[in-house]
Amino acid sequence: MNHEMCKKLVNEDDKVLSSCFRMPYYPLAVKRSYGSIVEDIDGNSFIDLFSSASSLNAGHCHPKVVEAIIEQSKKFTHYSPVYSYNEPLVELANKLCDITPGNYKKRVAFGLSGSDANDGMIKLARYYTGRSKIVSFIQAYHGSTYGSMSLSAISLNMRRKIGPMLPDIYHIPYPDCYRCKFGQKEDTCSLECLKQFETAMEYYIPAEEIAAVIIEPVAGDAGLVVPPKKYMEGLYEICKANGILFVSEEVQQGLGRTGKWFGIEHFGIEPDIVIIAKSLASGLPLSAIVGREEIMQSWQAPVHAFTTAGNPVCCSAAVATLKVIEEENLIEHTREMGEYVKERLNLIKDKYTLIGDVRGLGLSIGVDLVKDRVTKERNKEAASKICYRCWEKGLILAFFANNVLRIQPPLIIKKEELDTAIDIIEGAISDFLAGDIPDEILRIAKGW
Ligand SMILES: Cc1ncc(COP(=O)(O)O)c(C=O)c1O
Repeated sequence: MNHEMCKKLVNEDDKVLSSCFRMPYYPLAVKRSYGSIVEDIDGNSFIDLFSSASSLNAGHCHPKVVEAIIEQSKKFTHYSPVYSYNEPLVELANKLCDITPGNYKKRVAFGLSGSDANDGMIKLARYYTGRSKIVSFIQAYHGSTYGSMSLSAISLNMRRKIGPMLPDIYHIPYPDCYRCKFGQKEDTCSLECLKQFETAMEYYIPAEEIAAVIIEPVAGDAGLVVPPKKYMEGLYEICKANGILFVSEEVQQGLGRTGKWFGIEHFGIEPDIVIIAKSLASGLPLSAIVGREEIMQSWQAPVHAFTTAGNPVCCSAAVATLKVIEEENLIEHTREMGEYVKERLNLIKDKYTLIGDVRGLGLSIGVDLVKDRVTKERNKEAASKICYRCWEKGLILAFFANNVLRIQPPLIIKKEELDTAIDIIEGAISDFLAGDIPDEILRIAKGW
């Protein structure tokens, strides 16, 4: 593959763009994309296992989504919902109330990104409960505004030099059964991680001052960690017993990604609030806070009002995206493909001790690369080099938590494309183990 034009563009970009946002894996400069395929400006084509960080569940440039964008753009591109009303906004809000879990009356507040929706959740939970404290999780990523950064605890780079963060936000350990922080195994586990929360409430976080707990149903940036059902049930019970709102953060895991509309449905829990963004409008800027009516009607304008939120083009794209997910049975397809991918990856795991764990729900699958299966030390070098080699072979693949390959393709991906993608990953693993991937790429492939 030739990457000359891409590299040239990266050099130009380097001279003009700020250092605040990019975490590169390789010089990918996109020219066009369709389905599960991305083409770069050198004319190379790639199978996409990343979906622009899980923001293209309905695939790249789905014709029905593109048509909805064009049709709405011809009518009017914007008139702020802060001062006016529009049809796509109401249609989308009704649809979101229908598909989110919970058999009760709901309402919706729109924004532009996962970050602002999480930020809004803090305001909403404080407003409704009259309490100030919010509980979140260690290694969570919830966004880049001050509020959502304060909810996050993923890296010191998101904390250094920018404090103080919002007050009264606490972080507890996420239930990680593969790397249990309490040294337990499945048969010895008595939910020590949940007890840690109970201990915190006993000594320094008064339960009656906690407004909300915000949790991802699968901890994405922590490395796609799937919590045990009994943990989620226990956490929910604590919330209900203490008047604490249970917030399911579905920015990355929602909209069919896990093989259900929303990840929290795997646990049979009806959250008070659901946070949605990324894939909602197939990558156009749109987020939504969906919650019980009495909560959503408790705060007063303009506490969460953005001029361009709920833009009609974005809302039309979102209505079309949700229709595609439904009409093309993408949720069922995701479940089937997810099982298939895990099966294939587990066969590869049998061959290479580099793979410590394969886990996930639906098409949200993590491959945990370790230096040693006993110590489970994270193998960042392997993750960086393997992702880079995959890119050289025509596959877009990223990693998080330093060592977990992130398999989150568009949900429309075909089985044959997944087979090709997994073959490329296996080839890259064997190249890595043979020492065939040069160290110099570690300067480029940084990830998070
Ligand atoms: C779980 C989760 N929450 C929130 C966000 C922030 O969303 P956005 O980048 O749209 O602000 C992200 C983005 O990566 C995410 O993965």
